[in-house]
Amino acid sequence: MLNEQGLSEEQVFSRLNELLKNDATYRSGHPVASMSTIPHSIGSKVFFKTIEKNAGRLHTFKGSAQVEREVIEMIGDLLSLDEPYGTTTSGGTESNILAMLAARESKRKIKGTPEIIAPKTVHSSVDKAAWLLGIKLVKTGVDKEFRGNPTSLEKKITSNTIGIFTTAGTTYLGQIDPIEKIGEIAEDYNLPLHVDAAFGGYVIPFLKDLGIAFHKFAFEVDGVTSVSSDPHKMGLAPIPAGSLLFREKTFMKKITKDIPYLQGASSTQSTILGTRPAGAILATWAVMKHLGKEGYRDIVLECMENTRVALDRLELNPLLKPAIPPVMNIIGIESTEVTIDYIVEKMEQKGWRMATSPKPHTIRLVIMPHVNAGALNAFFNDLDQVSTTIPAD
Ligand SMILES: Cc1ncc(COP(=O)(O)O)c(C=O)c1O
Repeated sequence: MLNEQGLSEEQVFSRLNELLKNDATYRSGHPVASMSTIPHSIGSKVFFKTIEKNAGRLHTFKGSAQVEREVIEMIGDLLSLDEPYGTTTSGGTESNILAMLAARESKRKIKGTPEIIAPKTVHSSVDKAAWLLGIKLVKTGVDKEFRGNPTSLEKKITSNTIGIFTTAGTTYLGQIDPIEKIGEIAEDYNLPLHVDAAFGGYVIPFLKDLGIAFHKFAFEVDGVTSVSSDPHKMGLAPIPAGSLLFREKTFMKKITKDIPYLQGASSTQSTILGTRPAGAILATWAVMKHLGKEGYRDIVLECMENTRVALDRLELNPLLKPAIPPVMNIIGIESTEVTIDYIVEKMEQKGWRMATSPKPHTIRLVIMPHVNAGALNAFFNDLDQVSTTIPAD
């Protein structure tokens, strides 16, 4: 109920603080299963200073429009694309919806229900996109390490196929699909290929720089049409900050709509949202400029070192194991004796905010920058106890 008379600022804060006591805080080193983290302080400063700016009206906010272009160029640099066409978005979900829209609009001649093919490990926002856009999502098999299987994918191509979706950094296990092989298939069949690098986009380029792993996952693969990558995950920008880049302008045009009542630069929009916070874009720009490649490399290195801390603890517990050797700072933990559901219930009782994945049934750890070795050790102390206590029937 809206109160008749306004409360004082003090009263508002006191009530709000009371309500927010139930929120987890990243500053405690938890949660250990979230893809968000504490934004870099320079991003928070810029965000608060620019809170009223509207990226849906780029004619009014011409400076912000320029900053958005520079953000797209910087992300293009990370994704191996010199001349990117693209837009910032509210996050991975919006980017996937827009990428699917671009694929659908590029294949308008299809007579039947349009179909997108994707390994079954795609994020649920791909299901959401298909649902919203009237597209049939055809899910295909994965190999033993949960990478999309190109042969299984190719077999599902029909005259109704309008595109292929893949992932570089899957939500559950951080796995990377064989984008090069799938890129060849996309080229052979002249199909748009989208790579969802919402998480991996700010990790994989730095794994390469650090000499940890070399994966071709973005525009360096010829068949790739579009890549999404989220500054508000490993990019350390405040929420909401996503991005979608296209190799070709024609695809960008497919998601661009006239907004007749607005002027100049604002007269078209390429996002689902109309009014949207320019503050998040400006903050993304500030964080990226401030950290540079070197800063991100250091962050990824620290996350990978902490992933090692978690793996070392895991190795000491004979009843737990990683579902696959971690590819990045995400670990899916399988339990051989005690069920995952029981472990989750008990860990939640101990105050941990848990996340699981269905197949393979695992406890999911995401070693974000706020997750330090201390938090991990505390987590494993509890996990060891819970996972080795066989419950009485
Ligand atoms: C691979 C992948 N894609 C897309 C998304 C959706 O991102 P958002 O929650 O920012 O919309 C996620 C979220 O975890 C993800 O892991």
